[in-house]
Amino acid sequence: MKPSVRKTIIAGNWKMNMTPSAARAAVAETAALVAGQASCEVVLCVPFVDVPAAVEVARGTNVKIGAQNVHFEKKGAFTGEIAADMLLECGVEYVIVGHSERRQYFGETDETVNRRAKAALEAGLKVILCLGEVLSQRQAGITEEIVSLQTKLDLAGITAEQMKNVVIAYEPVWAIGTGLTATPEQAEEVCAFIRAVVRAGFGARAARGLPILYGGSVNPENADDFFLLPDVDGALVGGASLDPRKFFSILEESENNED
Ligand code: PGA
Repeated sequence: MKPSVRKTIIAGNWKMNMTPSAARAAVAETAALVAGQASCEVVLCVPFVDVPAAVEVARGTNVKIGAQNVHFEKKGAFTGEIAADMLLECGVEYVIVGHSERRQYFGETDETVNRRAKAALEAGLKVILCLGEVLSQRQAGITEEIVSLQTKLDLAGITAEQMKNVVIAYEPVWAIGTGLTATPEQAEEVCAFIRAVVRAGFGARAARGLPILYGGSVNPENADDFFLLPDVDGALVGGASLDPRKFFSILEESENNED
């Protein structure tokens, strides 16, 4: 059973989907569905250009808005990048860093992920740090080595105090967008392991308070397998978050497993 210090978080990652007008409608529909529920934190991580519309529609509702990336410098000649202060001023509360698609397609390394996480935390954003092994690493039996290294490198230099604003999303890369999911045993094993790595680096209190989400093809049919696990505190949902009703069904599964 989960300690009550950790709130369940159900976060959607829209990736490169939804124009601002589509975002407006989807946030409104999601907010209407989740109105009245208080037991979990609901976050939608939207494309940068959707942020103003999403924040406006989400204001006064249970939905919090996140972004999907942030640059590590405060400002300057970094064409195409977005700084943490810009996101904050637009009303963003959360930011994803280190998503596997950024690592795979955009040259993101543990060093740049770490710099982005630090910049976001220093500015006052909450960070959803994504990490996880690729299939060949799982098959080679080195999942724990990989996840341990990512956890240590990506969180290097972050203080125990700042850890209060960190969420880790364990996303096995082979399960993202593939329809494959980790088994509940695999998810629990790795999430408990990540918590142990955080305990060793930041202490028992930080580890106990750290929300760890599972991500990778979570949908309304399989979500409750994960919400029963003691070290899994919610989900990072890609594809299924684009449909507000599916996203809400996932959230309902998490509520069914409260207490
Ligand atoms: P998916 O994506 O749910 O579509 O597999 C998860 C993610 O990339 O965060």
